[in-house]
Amino acid sequence: MTVRFPDGFLWGGATAANQVEGAYDEDGKGLSVQDVMPRGISGPRTDAPTPDNLKLVGIDHYHRYAEDIALFAEMGFTVYRFSIAWSRIFPNGDETEPNEAGLAFYDRLLDELERRGIEPLVTISHYETPLHLAETYDGWTDRRMIGFYERYARTLFERYGSRVKYWLTFNEINSLVHAPFMSGGINTPKEQLSDAQLYQAMHHELVASARATRIAREVIPGVQIGCMVLSMPVYPLTPSPQDALAVMATDHGNLVYGDVHTRGRYPGYFLRSLREKGIELDITDADRDDLGNTVDFVSFSYYMSIAETGDPERRTAGEGNIMGGVPNPTLPASEWGWQIDPIGLRLVLNQFWDRWQKPLFIVENGLGAKDVLVEVDGVKTVVDDYRIAYMNDHLVQVAEAIADGVEVLGYTSWGCIDIVSASTAQLSKRYGFIYVDRNDDGTGSLERYRKKSFGWYRDVIASNGGVLTV
Ligand code: BG6
Repeated sequence: MTVRFPDGFLWGGATAANQVEGAYDEDGKGLSVQDVMPRGISGPRTDAPTPDNLKLVGIDHYHRYAEDIALFAEMGFTVYRFSIAWSRIFPNGDETEPNEAGLAFYDRLLDELERRGIEPLVTISHYETPLHLAETYDGWTDRRMIGFYERYARTLFERYGSRVKYWLTFNEINSLVHAPFMSGGINTPKEQLSDAQLYQAMHHELVASARATRIAREVIPGVQIGCMVLSMPVYPLTPSPQDALAVMATDHGNLVYGDVHTRGRYPGYFLRSLREKGIELDITDADRDDLGNTVDFVSFSYYMSIAETGDPERRTAGEGNIMGGVPNPTLPASEWGWQIDPIGLRLVLNQFWDRWQKPLFIVENGLGAKDVLVEVDGVKTVVDDYRIAYMNDHLVQVAEAIADGVEVLGYTSWGCIDIVSASTAQLSKRYGFIYVDRNDDGTGSLERYRKKSFGWYRDVIASNGGVLTV
């Protein structure tokens, strides 16, 4: 196969505010849930920020964004996905007036992108709910969150709408039920939450996402607004029909979010599961109207696939991106146990396209690995051939899906510069083309160094995928 990407395909990288910016209390920023999560998803939260929380400084992107964007431009990025920290704009989340200093920071960042000819792709909410909303309202379990989010989104559209065309409403919206504090600002510990509370929170986010979509269209002519889901193709562990049914159930748990975003209503399988659990959601007529505002495109993260089985005896828990799953005996895994499956990306692209018929955007993909900084010809670098192989193989599958007829808008690799990990809060889980000198114990100069993959990705972009090896 000759690798071909369409003209105008957007190439770039992605980050999230809480994982790069640092400056956690500068210029009027309020605390977010991340500022009290020093150990990532599985660790306990703290009452207040603690010095061992690497996100408080991040990679100091708040002060070094111009240098970082210059490096992205050197690789030829045509798009950069970043998120806006809600608590920079509304420090508590429930104020009526935004924080001007917070807004001004993203003006400066957008100026820099504009200067470099890089298209911004903005995530409105990426795992950084203001802590006050978590502690006062229990996050998205409370209907009032829709109004706070609406005000926040409208503020962003009015301020940046003339320069930002591509928007995403919630990062990995389907992670809410798996990581309620990080993803939904829900303060009540997960074990104490009922399914009814979790699904109500999900409903509130879906309504908020749809309302933001409506407002974006009112405020920004030509806007392209999308949802963002965590994708994870599911394979049956064996060919038994029971395993295939288990696959369908797991798939439904994830696909419902995209179904609502693209069709504007809840699918029958979801309503059935609510009925069978005896859950009656509070869904108003206005909510139903709001949900009718469907997205322009679907974006998603892809790192790995999982297996599923209907046989409880064979059900083992594997490692993985937020939701885990049964390990697939046919696949290798990363140092963090995430199973590596390039073909899964082609499958998921086809599945989403066949199901939703909306353009797709791959906004996260990459390999978290332990990198070693070495000197080659007197220059500090990382010889990350493993990352190049991972990305090459995944991009080849994107090209395959495009050849299958799937409409793909672009690709932003995750953590294009090393950042703090969401699941483990480590810096040693590195994804970047750019090495950042910062260690898990907080030491390091924060200097940036180009890895071998930096030059490789520059060549991939310059050739529009032509240099990929099939
Ligand atoms: C996604 C998140 O789940 O995966 C990112 O949107 C996250 O925020 C990424 O960083 C990779 O996960 P991790 O745990 O390796 O940082």
